[in-house]
Amino acid sequence: MAEQIISREFKNRWINFYGKNVTERILRELEQSDPRIISPNALYTTRRQLQESLESQGFRFAPETPFNCLILEFEPFNIVATSEYLSGLFTIQALTSLIPPKCLNPSSESVVADLAASPGIKTCLLAEVMENTGTLFAIEKAKKRIPALKSNIARMGIYNTFILNCDARSFPGLNVKVDHIMLDAPCTGTGLKLKKNKRLERRILNDVTRQSLIQREILDEAWKQLKIDGTIVYSTCSLEPEEGEVQINNFLARHEKQVQVLPININIGNPGNLTRWTKVYDSQISNTRRIFPDQGMDGFFIALMKKVRE
Ligand SMILES: C[S@@+](CC[C@H](N)C(=O)[O-])C[C@H]1O[C@@H](n2cnc3c(N)ncnc32)[C@H](O)[C@@H]1O
Repeated sequence: MAEQIISREFKNRWINFYGKNVTERILRELEQSDPRIISPNALYTTRRQLQESLESQGFRFAPETPFNCLILEFEPFNIVATSEYLSGLFTIQALTSLIPPKCLNPSSESVVADLAASPGIKTCLLAEVMENTGTLFAIEKAKKRIPALKSNIARMGIYNTFILNCDARSFPGLNVKVDHIMLDAPCTGTGLKLKKNKRLERRILNDVTRQSLIQREILDEAWKQLKIDGTIVYSTCSLEPEEGEVQINNFLARHEKQVQVLPININIGNPGNLTRWTKVYDSQISNTRRIFPDQGMDGFFIALMKKVRE
Protein backbone atom coordinates (compact mmCIF):
# COMPACT_ATOMS: atom_id res chain seq x y z
CA MET A 1 0.00 0.00 0.00
CA ALA A 2 1.10 3.53 -0.79
CA GLU A 3 1.37 4.60 2.88
CA GLN A 4 4.13 2.10 3.58
CA ILE A 5 6.65 3.79 1.31
CA ILE A 6 7.30 6.52 3.89
CA SER A 7 6.82 6.76 7.67
CA ARG A 8 3.55 8.08 9.07
CA GLU A 9 5.51 10.99 10.55
CA PHE A 10 6.49 12.19 7.06
CA LYS A 11 3.07 11.53 5.62
CA ASN A 12 1.47 13.68 8.34
CA ARG A 13 3.95 16.48 7.67
CA TRP A 14 3.06 16.39 3.97
CA ILE A 15 -0.65 16.53 4.81
CA ASN A 16 -0.03 19.57 7.03
CA PHE A 17 2.04 21.29 4.39
CA TYR A 18 0.42 20.27 1.11
CA GLY A 19 -3.04 19.02 2.11
CA LYS A 20 -4.56 15.52 1.96
CA ASN A 21 -5.31 15.32 -1.78
CA VAL A 22 -1.86 16.43 -2.89
CA THR A 23 -0.27 14.02 -0.38
CA GLU A 24 -2.29 11.09 -1.74
CA ARG A 25 -1.19 12.03 -5.24
CA ILE A 26 2.47 12.30 -4.11
CA LEU A 27 2.32 8.82 -2.55
CA ARG A 28 0.80 7.32 -5.71
CA GLU A 29 3.28 9.04 -8.00
CA LEU A 30 6.36 8.08 -5.96
CA GLU A 31 5.57 4.45 -6.75
CA GLN A 32 5.50 5.00 -10.51
CA SER A 33 8.63 4.58 -12.60
CA ASP A 34 9.59 7.21 -15.12
CA PRO A 35 10.49 6.72 -18.77
CA ARG A 36 14.13 7.36 -19.67
CA ILE A 37 14.73 10.96 -20.75
CA ILE A 38 17.39 11.49 -23.39
CA SER A 39 18.98 14.94 -23.56
CA PRO A 40 21.03 15.58 -26.73
CA ASN A 41 24.48 17.11 -26.13
CA ALA A 42 24.15 20.47 -27.90
CA LEU A 43 27.95 20.66 -28.21
CA TYR A 44 27.87 17.77 -30.71
CA THR A 45 24.43 17.13 -32.14
CA THR A 46 20.83 18.24 -32.49
CA ARG A 47 17.72 16.47 -31.24
CA ARG A 48 16.65 15.65 -34.79
CA GLN A 49 20.02 14.14 -35.79
CA LEU A 50 20.19 12.09 -32.62
CA GLN A 51 16.60 10.89 -32.94
CA GLU A 52 17.14 9.81 -36.55
CA SER A 53 20.28 7.85 -35.79
CA LEU A 54 18.75 6.10 -32.75
CA GLU A 55 15.48 5.35 -34.59
CA SER A 56 17.45 3.71 -37.39
CA GLN A 57 18.62 1.18 -34.75
CA GLY A 58 15.06 0.45 -33.58
CA PHE A 59 14.68 2.89 -30.65
CA ARG A 60 11.28 4.56 -30.40
CA PHE A 61 10.40 7.90 -28.78
CA ALA A 62 7.21 9.62 -27.59
CA PRO A 63 5.87 12.39 -29.85
CA GLU A 64 6.35 15.04 -27.14
CA THR A 65 9.80 16.61 -26.76
CA PRO A 66 9.87 18.44 -23.41
CA PHE A 67 12.82 20.84 -23.03
CA ASN A 68 14.10 19.63 -26.42
CA CYS A 69 14.59 16.11 -24.98
CA LEU A 70 13.43 12.70 -26.17
CA ILE A 71 11.25 10.40 -24.08
CA LEU A 72 12.28 6.81 -24.67
CA GLU A 73 9.33 4.46 -25.30
CA PHE A 74 11.05 1.35 -26.61
CA GLU A 75 14.66 0.15 -26.61
CA PRO A 76 15.65 -2.91 -28.65
CA PHE A 77 18.75 -3.11 -26.41
CA ASN A 78 20.13 -0.99 -23.58
CA ILE A 79 20.61 2.53 -24.96
CA VAL A 80 23.85 3.01 -22.97
CA ALA A 81 25.43 0.39 -25.26
CA THR A 82 24.99 2.61 -28.34
CA SER A 83 27.99 4.37 -29.88
CA GLU A 84 25.95 7.61 -29.54
CA TYR A 85 25.92 7.25 -25.75
CA LEU A 86 29.55 6.15 -25.50
CA SER A 87 30.71 9.08 -27.62
CA GLY A 88 28.81 11.61 -25.48
CA LEU A 89 25.99 12.58 -27.85
CA PHE A 90 23.47 12.48 -25.02
CA THR A 91 22.84 12.11 -21.29
CA ILE A 92 20.06 10.17 -19.58
CA GLN A 93 18.47 11.97 -16.69
CA ALA A 94 15.42 13.15 -14.78
CA LEU A 95 13.45 15.92 -16.49
CA THR A 96 13.89 18.13 -13.44
CA SER A 97 17.71 17.98 -13.84
CA LEU A 98 17.38 20.10 -16.95
CA ILE A 99 15.90 23.08 -15.13
CA PRO A 100 18.71 24.46 -12.87
CA PRO A 101 21.43 24.78 -15.56
CA LYS A 102 18.99 26.55 -17.88
CA CYS A 103 18.18 29.14 -15.19
CA LEU A 104 21.68 30.60 -15.27
CA ASN A 105 22.70 32.88 -18.07
CA PRO A 106 26.50 32.74 -18.26
CA SER A 107 28.55 34.63 -20.86
CA SER A 108 31.64 33.25 -22.59
CA GLU A 109 33.76 34.98 -19.90
CA SER A 110 31.81 33.81 -16.88
CA VAL A 111 33.30 32.07 -13.88
CA VAL A 112 30.77 29.55 -12.59
CA ALA A 113 30.76 27.07 -9.70
CA ASP A 114 28.76 23.87 -9.34
CA LEU A 115 29.00 23.25 -5.60
CA ALA A 116 27.65 19.69 -5.28
CA ALA A 117 28.59 18.17 -8.58
CA SER A 118 28.78 14.37 -8.77
CA PRO A 119 27.81 12.44 -10.85
CA GLY A 120 27.88 15.59 -12.96
CA ILE A 121 24.62 15.40 -14.90
CA LYS A 122 23.89 19.05 -14.23
CA THR A 123 27.60 20.00 -14.54
CA CYS A 124 27.55 18.68 -18.12
CA LEU A 125 24.31 20.51 -18.90
CA LEU A 126 25.75 23.71 -17.46
CA ALA A 127 28.93 23.33 -19.55
CA GLU A 128 26.65 22.91 -22.58
CA VAL A 129 24.78 26.12 -21.68
CA MET A 130 28.24 27.77 -21.39
CA GLU A 131 29.11 26.36 -24.86
CA ASN A 132 32.33 24.97 -23.34
CA THR A 133 33.63 28.52 -22.74
CA GLY A 134 34.39 30.48 -19.56
CA THR A 135 35.46 28.58 -16.44
CA LEU A 136 33.42 26.06 -14.52
CA PHE A 137 34.46 24.67 -11.12
CA ALA A 138 32.83 21.33 -10.29
CA ILE A 139 33.13 20.82 -6.53
CA GLU A 140 32.42 17.45 -4.90
CA LYS A 141 33.14 16.45 -1.32
CA ALA A 142 32.95 12.64 -1.59
CA LYS A 143 36.19 11.20 -2.97
CA LYS A 144 34.46 8.01 -4.08
CA ARG A 145 32.08 10.05 -6.27
CA ILE A 146 34.88 11.80 -8.21
CA PRO A 147 35.43 9.01 -10.83
CA ALA A 148 31.77 9.19 -11.99
CA LEU A 149 32.06 12.97 -12.30
CA LYS A 150 35.33 12.71 -14.24
CA SER A 151 34.00 10.09 -16.60
CA ASN A 152 30.78 12.00 -17.42
CA ILE A 153 32.74 15.20 -18.11
CA ALA A 154 35.21 13.34 -20.33
CA ARG A 155 32.49 11.40 -22.20
CA MET A 156 30.56 14.60 -22.96
CA GLY A 157 33.66 16.31 -24.41
CA ILE A 158 33.72 19.09 -21.83
CA TYR A 159 36.95 21.04 -21.41
CA ASN A 160 35.99 24.26 -19.56
CA THR A 161 35.67 22.46 -16.19
CA PHE A 162 38.02 22.00 -13.22
CA ILE A 163 37.07 19.24 -10.80
CA LEU A 164 37.81 19.97 -7.13
CA ASN A 165 37.48 17.29 -4.46
CA CYS A 166 36.64 19.47 -1.44
CA ASP A 167 33.86 20.58 0.87
CA ALA A 168 31.75 23.36 -0.68
CA ARG A 169 31.75 25.03 2.74
CA SER A 170 35.47 25.73 2.27
CA PHE A 171 34.79 27.38 -1.12
CA PRO A 172 35.74 30.89 0.14
CA GLY A 173 39.21 29.46 0.90
CA LEU A 174 39.80 29.25 -2.88
CA ASN A 175 39.49 33.02 -3.03
CA VAL A 176 37.64 32.98 -6.36
CA LYS A 177 34.76 35.36 -6.96
CA VAL A 178 32.16 33.85 -9.29
CA ASP A 179 29.43 35.16 -11.58
CA HIS A 180 27.06 32.22 -11.14
CA ILE A 181 26.58 29.33 -8.75
CA MET A 182 24.60 26.14 -9.10
CA LEU A 183 23.85 24.44 -5.79
CA ASP A 184 21.99 21.19 -6.40
CA ALA A 185 22.29 20.55 -2.71
CA PRO A 186 22.74 17.30 -0.81
CA CYS A 187 19.27 16.53 0.59
CA THR A 188 16.97 13.83 1.97
CA GLY A 189 15.74 13.04 -1.56
CA THR A 190 12.15 12.48 -0.40
CA GLY A 191 10.87 13.66 -3.81
CA LEU A 192 12.71 10.93 -5.74
CA LYS A 193 10.67 8.13 -7.24
CA LEU A 194 10.86 4.91 -5.26
CA LYS A 195 12.78 3.01 -7.92
CA LYS A 196 15.77 5.35 -7.44
CA ASN A 197 15.22 5.79 -3.73
CA LYS A 198 15.53 2.63 -1.70
CA ARG A 199 16.09 4.66 1.49
CA LEU A 200 12.75 6.49 1.45
CA GLU A 201 11.03 4.32 4.06
CA ARG A 202 14.04 4.66 6.41
CA ARG A 203 14.08 8.46 6.37
CA ILE A 204 13.73 10.05 9.80
CA LEU A 205 13.09 13.65 10.79
CA ASN A 206 16.65 13.99 12.03
CA ASP A 207 17.82 13.56 8.38
CA VAL A 208 15.84 16.68 7.45
CA THR A 209 17.44 18.68 10.28
CA ARG A 210 20.95 17.47 9.39
CA GLN A 211 20.66 18.07 5.63
CA SER A 212 19.00 21.46 5.98
CA LEU A 213 21.86 22.62 8.23
CA ILE A 214 24.46 21.55 5.61
CA GLN A 215 22.43 23.33 2.89
CA ARG A 216 22.29 26.48 5.01
CA GLU A 217 26.05 26.41 5.63
CA ILE A 218 26.88 25.85 1.94
CA LEU A 219 24.46 28.59 0.85
CA ASP A 220 25.99 31.13 3.25
CA GLU A 221 29.58 30.34 2.24
CA ALA A 222 28.66 30.37 -1.47
CA TRP A 223 26.98 33.75 -1.10
CA LYS A 224 30.27 35.32 0.10
CA GLN A 225 31.96 34.34 -3.16
CA LEU A 226 29.20 35.52 -5.50
CA LYS A 227 29.85 38.81 -7.32
CA ILE A 228 27.28 41.62 -7.14
CA ASP A 229 24.69 41.02 -9.91
CA GLY A 230 25.69 37.33 -9.87
CA THR A 231 23.03 34.62 -9.60
CA ILE A 232 22.72 31.40 -7.65
CA VAL A 233 20.33 28.59 -8.48
CA TYR A 234 19.46 26.40 -5.49
CA SER A 235 17.65 23.09 -5.89
CA THR A 236 16.80 19.91 -3.98
CA CYS A 237 14.88 16.76 -4.89
CA SER A 238 13.17 16.91 -1.50
CA LEU A 239 9.53 17.48 -0.55
CA GLU A 240 10.49 18.84 2.87
CA PRO A 241 9.85 22.60 3.28
CA GLU A 242 12.99 22.96 5.44
CA GLU A 243 15.03 22.01 2.37
CA GLY A 244 12.97 24.26 0.08
CA GLU A 245 10.71 27.19 0.85
CA VAL A 246 11.70 27.48 4.54
CA GLN A 247 15.42 27.24 3.71
CA ILE A 248 15.11 30.13 1.24
CA ASN A 249 12.82 32.15 3.52
CA ASN A 250 15.45 31.93 6.30
CA PHE A 251 18.19 32.79 3.81
CA LEU A 252 16.26 35.92 2.78
CA ALA A 253 15.91 36.91 6.44
CA ARG A 254 19.68 36.51 7.03
CA HIS A 255 20.75 38.41 3.91
CA GLU A 256 17.81 40.79 3.75
CA LYS A 257 18.25 43.56 1.17
CA GLN A 258 21.05 41.77 -0.69
CA VAL A 259 18.79 39.15 -2.29
CA GLN A 260 16.34 39.35 -5.13
CA VAL A 261 14.47 36.13 -5.89
CA LEU A 262 13.99 35.95 -9.65
CA PRO A 263 11.00 34.27 -11.31
CA ILE A 264 11.63 30.92 -13.02
CA ASN A 265 10.04 30.82 -16.42
CA ILE A 266 8.81 27.25 -16.68
CA ASN A 267 5.24 26.11 -16.88
CA ILE A 268 5.62 23.09 -14.63
CA GLY A 269 5.06 22.96 -10.88
CA ASN A 270 3.60 25.64 -8.62
CA PRO A 271 4.87 28.84 -7.03
CA GLY A 272 6.61 28.19 -3.68
CA ASN A 273 4.13 28.71 -0.89
CA LEU A 274 4.47 29.01 2.87
CA THR A 275 0.89 29.87 3.84
CA ARG A 276 0.32 26.49 5.53
CA TRP A 277 3.60 26.75 7.44
CA THR A 278 3.73 30.27 8.85
CA LYS A 279 1.79 33.52 8.62
CA VAL A 280 4.90 35.68 8.33
CA TYR A 281 7.16 35.06 5.37
CA ASP A 282 8.90 36.89 2.56
CA SER A 283 6.57 37.40 -0.41
CA GLN A 284 9.52 36.69 -2.76
CA ILE A 285 8.99 32.98 -1.95
CA SER A 286 6.27 32.94 -4.59
CA ASN A 287 9.03 33.29 -7.23
CA THR A 288 10.49 29.91 -6.22
CA ARG A 289 9.07 26.75 -7.78
CA ARG A 290 7.69 23.58 -6.14
CA ILE A 291 7.35 20.56 -8.42
CA PHE A 292 5.47 17.48 -7.20
CA PRO A 293 6.35 13.99 -8.34
CA ASP A 294 4.46 13.51 -11.56
CA GLN A 295 4.67 11.53 -14.74
CA GLY A 296 8.25 11.76 -15.90
CA MET A 297 9.27 13.95 -12.97
CA ASP A 298 10.66 13.68 -9.47
CA GLY A 299 9.57 16.01 -6.68
CA PHE A 300 11.78 19.07 -6.81
CA PHE A 301 12.28 22.56 -5.37
CA ILE A 302 14.12 25.36 -7.14
CA ALA A 303 14.98 28.98 -6.37
CA LEU A 304 16.94 31.49 -8.45
CA MET A 305 18.48 34.40 -6.52
CA LYS A 306 20.40 37.46 -7.58
CA LYS A 307 22.90 39.28 -5.36
CA VAL A 308 22.14 42.98 -5.43
CA ARG A 309 23.99 45.92 -3.90
CA GLU A 310 22.46 46.88 -0.53
C1 LIG B 1 22.14 15.88 -5.16
S1 LIG B 1 23.75 15.27 -5.39
C2 LIG B 1 24.29 16.21 -6.76
C3 LIG B 1 23.84 15.67 -8.10
C4 LIG B 1 24.50 16.44 -9.24
N1 LIG B 1 24.27 17.86 -9.15
C5 LIG B 1 24.02 15.95 -10.60
O1 LIG B 1 23.11 16.56 -11.17
O2 LIG B 1 24.56 14.96 -11.10
C6 LIG B 1 24.62 16.07 -4.08
C7 LIG B 1 26.12 15.85 -4.10
O3 LIG B 1 26.69 16.72 -3.12
C8 LIG B 1 27.80 16.07 -2.53
N2 LIG B 1 28.06 16.75 -1.25
C9 LIG B 1 27.49 16.53 -0.04
N3 LIG B 1 27.96 17.40 0.87
C10 LIG B 1 28.84 18.21 0.21
C11 LIG B 1 29.64 19.31 0.61
N4 LIG B 1 29.65 19.75 1.87
N5 LIG B 1 30.44 19.90 -0.31
C12 LIG B 1 30.44 19.46 -1.61
N6 LIG B 1 29.72 18.41 -2.03
C13 LIG B 1 28.91 17.80 -1.14
C14 LIG B 1 27.31 14.62 -2.40
O4 LIG B 1 28.40 13.74 -2.25
C15 LIG B 1 26.57 14.44 -3.73
O5 LIG B 1 27.44 13.96 -4.72
